[in-house]
Amino acid sequence: MVDGKRTLLIVGGGIAAFKSLDLVRRLRERGATVRGVLTAGGAQFVTPLSLSALTEDKVYQDLFSLTDEAEMGHIELSRSADLIVVAPATADLMAKMATGSASDLASTLLLATDTDVLIAPAMNVRMWEHPATVANLATLRARGVAVVGPNEGPMACGEFGFGRMAEPLEIVAAIEGYFGAADGPLKGRRALVTSGPTHEPIDPVRYIANRSSGKQGHAIAAALAGLGAETTLVTGPTHEPNPAGVRVIRIETARQMLAACLAGLPTDVAICAAAVADWRVASAAEQKLKKDGGALPALTLTENPDILATLAGRENDRPALVIGFAAETENVVEHAAAKRARKGCDWIVANDVSPDTGTFGGDGNTVHLVTAEQVEDWPPLSKVEVGQRLARRIADHFAA
Ligand code: C5P
Repeated sequence: MVDGKRTLLIVGGGIAAFKSLDLVRRLRERGATVRGVLTAGGAQFVTPLSLSALTEDKVYQDLFSLTDEAEMGHIELSRSADLIVVAPATADLMAKMATGSASDLASTLLLATDTDVLIAPAMNVRMWEHPATVANLATLRARGVAVVGPNEGPMACGEFGFGRMAEPLEIVAAIEGYFGAADGPLKGRRALVTSGPTHEPIDPVRYIANRSSGKQGHAIAAALAGLGAETTLVTGPTHEPNPAGVRVIRIETARQMLAACLAGLPTDVAICAAAVADWRVASAAEQKLKKDGGALPALTLTENPDILATLAGRENDRPALVIGFAAETENVVEHAAAKRARKGCDWIVANDVSPDTGTFGGDGNTVHLVTAEQVEDWPPLSKVEVGQRLARRIADHFAA
């Protein structure tokens, strides 16, 4: 998807800058060219030499450099790429972009360019949540700037929260999403993905939920969009950022998820990666249940609709390819094969979610792809890579 594409990578001043070096490698191994621009802050974290060695190109740093201008003027530099990627995009760079400041080479390029821009924000969580940054982000989004991340997690400064830069492969997926929409192998195809847990209300303030993070479903949606599919993601409550280039519909309950999925038909492929609650409270209380010393409330459960089975069983508008997930803790492949038959879907992605695998909530996944004909054992991969491999597999299926 990025093969032959020219990217201009602006590396801002944050500890995440070291990950941008890996981003260069990942882009180059996919055939993209990368031209590096380093801010003064960025140069505090990575050296021009590292960036130059990895891009195999000159690195641009100064606005008023006679030699740089003689070689390529900054206006020309700003338009020399198919996409400008800012990673890490610091709070300062975002503020400069939002206000149109042109006080150094990076901000001047961003103001002078007519090329689309993707930013991967990275900063301390308080800075990320500050109303100034929130407003700057809204301004940038409104102007069509694409955003990937940030992720939630421990930060270099010792705090915890949103502000970690998206991982290099997530940024690659967003870049592929940008280019894929134009000419990927799934161009012209529609994809529907479910992700995350559902929340089933007990009363207006309490609910039943599960530990699904939504990481796998979101990664699949990002990868499908990356290959050019017109992708809709129906997701329960998660902390995952919206994948670039994906239409995201947020729901809470299984019944809302089903309604959103049915509204998303027709679609060529449906992938049910959500951990849908099997049961809901039969009649959720309209007012908050009171602990008044009386009898304990008895929760009567009733079964939720099975979204995967419903989509697989549609008469007139069944997606051509329906894919389910099977989270198992034992006899993974056998149980998955049985589930494939029971649910009437075409493929099942089976994974082991026993607590010691760390799959639930973690970044990695070891899966088996169970089709009618065969079982493919995939090596341990990150959830992003599982998403990319599955998207490729889907593209190959439609191409065949
Ligand atoms: O039955 P089980 O929950 O193990 O099946 C898992 C698969 O079924 C997943 O693909 C999940 O997204 C889907 N599913 C669903 N609706 C439900 C329950 C599961 O779509 N109510």
